[in-house]
Amino acid sequence: MKTESGSEPKFKTKTSASAEPALQELFLDSLQDIYWAENHLVRALPKMIQAATSEKLVTAITNHLEETKGHVVRLEQIFDLMGEKAIAKKCDAMEGLSKEGEGIVESTDEGTATRDVGIILASQKVEHYEIATYGGLTQLAKTLGLDEVAEILAATLAEEKLADELLTEVAENDVNYKASEEA
Ligand SMILES: [Fe+2]
Repeated sequence: MKTESGSEPKFKTKTSASAEPALQELFLDSLQDIYWAENHLVRALPKMIQAATSEKLVTAITNHLEETKGHVVRLEQIFDLMGEKAIAKKCDAMEGLSKEGEGIVESTDEGTATRDVGIILASQKVEHYEIATYGGLTQLAKTLGLDEVAEILAATLAEEKLADELLTEVAENDVNYKASEEA
């Protein structure tokens, strides 16, 4: 199929996923990557909850931890729908982002709003990574004709966006000002 400009379109919507093996492989690879990242977050978020002081921040991260456990389950449903085993492939980006969060906790004082600000900064970087990933994967699932998979990914994408907005609210209404008053 040629476009008006005469060039081949990069992607075509397929009704069968198997019609695009290389792209499907890339898609699966990315799923394994975010599966590792979500599992990693299930272990990393409790440390952030432990380190946070603001009640609103503790609540926001605690709620997102529960959502994150749901994101792991959703990815397992997706692997299942695709007839693939749920395999986690180490995500270097998430490992780095999570190390950065731990570094912020180590370099700030316990019980301070400044530490809370740092936790929010690190957490929002994580959210934005996830938003980018789920946004891209949702589109890719549609391209591959995997409509049910796309719907599941979109549900997680919506929760990541909301989590990011809630963190912004906590920063704006609760901790940023308090931190600016700290010595
Ligand atoms: Fe998530």
